[in-house]
Amino acid sequence: MKFVLPRLPYKADALAPALSEKQVEMHYAGHLKGYVDALNKMPEVATAGKIKLEELILKGKHELVDNRLGVLPPGEHTPKLFNIAAQVYNHTFYFRSLSPKGGGEPKGDMRDIIDAQYGSYANFKKKVIAKANNLFGSGYIWITLDDEGQLEIIRGLNAETPFVYQGLSPILGIDVWEHAYYMDYNRRRGDYMKQVMDKLINWDFANQNLRHA
Ligand code: FE2
Repeated sequence: MKFVLPRLPYKADALAPALSEKQVEMHYAGHLKGYVDALNKMPEVATAGKIKLEELILKGKHELVDNRLGVLPPGEHTPKLFNIAAQVYNHTFYFRSLSPKGGGEPKGDMRDIIDAQYGSYANFKKKVIAKANNLFGSGYIWITLDDEGQLEIIRGLNAETPFVYQGLSPILGIDVWEHAYYMDYNRRRGDYMKQVMDKLINWDFANQNLRHA
């Protein structure tokens, strides 16, 4: 079977000036398309019938765990299926986590849960940005809901995606690989995060994910 490139939910220039058309286009048509193409070349996909992206990620997860434990044989240190499948999932989720009409104070259930847990949106935003600044290397900031109904801000290294961990549902995901912001912000990840939170973060998508968590 073949996976198709998921649609960008807005025009590539719609996130400007927080993210330029050039930056969004390169990220979407370059990186996400590259991951979809690579996934379609994986033997697990090319030879399979109908298979869900989530199933492939779970199938690849044992490689990730083995990699963490350092038990893969030399030369097989890349959990390739997990990384590529998760990057398709993560980028699709990330682009949906942004909106030209997003950013600023949260709405609906997200507002209630943030206020109850963090006291204020300003405090929550400070914590999200600090987590991003403290993530060494590449990865994602995931805002998740745990199985007790609490929000958790977690760092996913590289392609790590929270839905493979029991009891964590992704609510919002922010790509903090340098390729996500380098054209517009150079190395200033904190400035990128601030613009994402102030101008782009998609509270409607977050509320929708809360309802289904
Ligand atoms: Fe990315």
